[in-house]
Amino acid sequence: MAATSSCIVNLGVKGNGNPEQPFSSSKSSQLLFSSNLSFAYNNTKYCLSLHSHQTLLSACLTKTKKSAFVVASAKPEHLKIMISGAPASGKGTQCELITKKYGLVHIAAGDLLRAEIASGSENGKQAKEYMEKGQLVPNEIVVMMVKDRLLQPDSQENGWLLDGYPRSLSQATALKEFGFRPDLFIVLEVNEEILVERVVGRRLDPVTGKIYHLKYSPPETEEIAARLTQRFDDTEEKVKLRLQTHRQNVEAVLSMYEDITLKVNGNLRKEDVFAQIDDALTKLFEDRKLNSGSLAA
Ligand code: AP5
Repeated sequence: MAATSSCIVNLGVKGNGNPEQPFSSSKSSQLLFSSNLSFAYNNTKYCLSLHSHQTLLSACLTKTKKSAFVVASAKPEHLKIMISGAPASGKGTQCELITKKYGLVHIAAGDLLRAEIASGSENGKQAKEYMEKGQLVPNEIVVMMVKDRLLQPDSQENGWLLDGYPRSLSQATALKEFGFRPDLFIVLEVNEEILVERVVGRRLDPVTGKIYHLKYSPPETEEIAARLTQRFDDTEEKVKLRLQTHRQNVEAVLSMYEDITLKVNGNLRKEDVFAQIDDALTKLFEDRKLNSGSLAA
């Protein structure tokens, strides 16, 4: 994969609305304009994006052997969604359904960490020690990993669905400082006795990445059943430690997103959980289209 570098500049203009005196330090001054300018590049492509008033203006410059060309566009900004919940509350399962319908880029902090472990890197080795104890991996490893993934061109162009991040107040604050603000913060609420049963019965297909459950979502064929794997932290003992960590941090994270939180009953069948989320996302998507239409008019 090509290495990606990036930066974000947050622009805010305060004033009293009078063009003769655009800046005022008085208490009556208000935020008139707020935008994020971001720049990302890898070995082949440079992207400049300006997010303002729910509209994304972007310009991409692609390097070819002899020439370069620029594509610029103005279109409704894509959705930016976060999904949160206790271990095995169904975040990954719902993300599969959401991405299928809405085409957002699924970014799961746990998956990024497991990929780092699989790569055999020093960060991966350290991360595994914390994950085995059901504790949060230190911010030095997680924060930049998530930020870099959010800034990749696919996330910027299609919108993102962030799963399992932030999990602490410091992670939420870091994200805000980098200029990432979600449109919706989904919280899956599931009773604890159900969570343990879901963890112990969970299996993963290493070929397709699909999530199964021996009882609730069994594999479709014998061939798939034979290749399913279990996560190293999916034991009853470890899920109790993970739940403890979750309880210690959840309130602080929720307090950051109170005004955009959607609480979902996650005890139901996965299709019924998705129906609640789908309803909210459809409304958000329609509002977004209306807003960008009135801006263009
Ligand atoms: P992570 O991989 O994120 O694990 P988690 O939060 O514990 O969540 P899970 O992936 O276990 O569950 P899920 O909610 O996605 O449920 P799923 O859909 O699979 O993190 C692992 C570790 O990495 C952490 O402990 C920590 O150490 C570290 N880490 C991660 N993020 C970090 C961060 N930001 N900072 C620091 N450290 C971090 O479903 C579970 C099972 O239930 C499946 O079998 C599924 O088929 C079944 N199921 C799902 N929905 C339903 C339903 N409605 N009805 C019946 N069964 C269902």
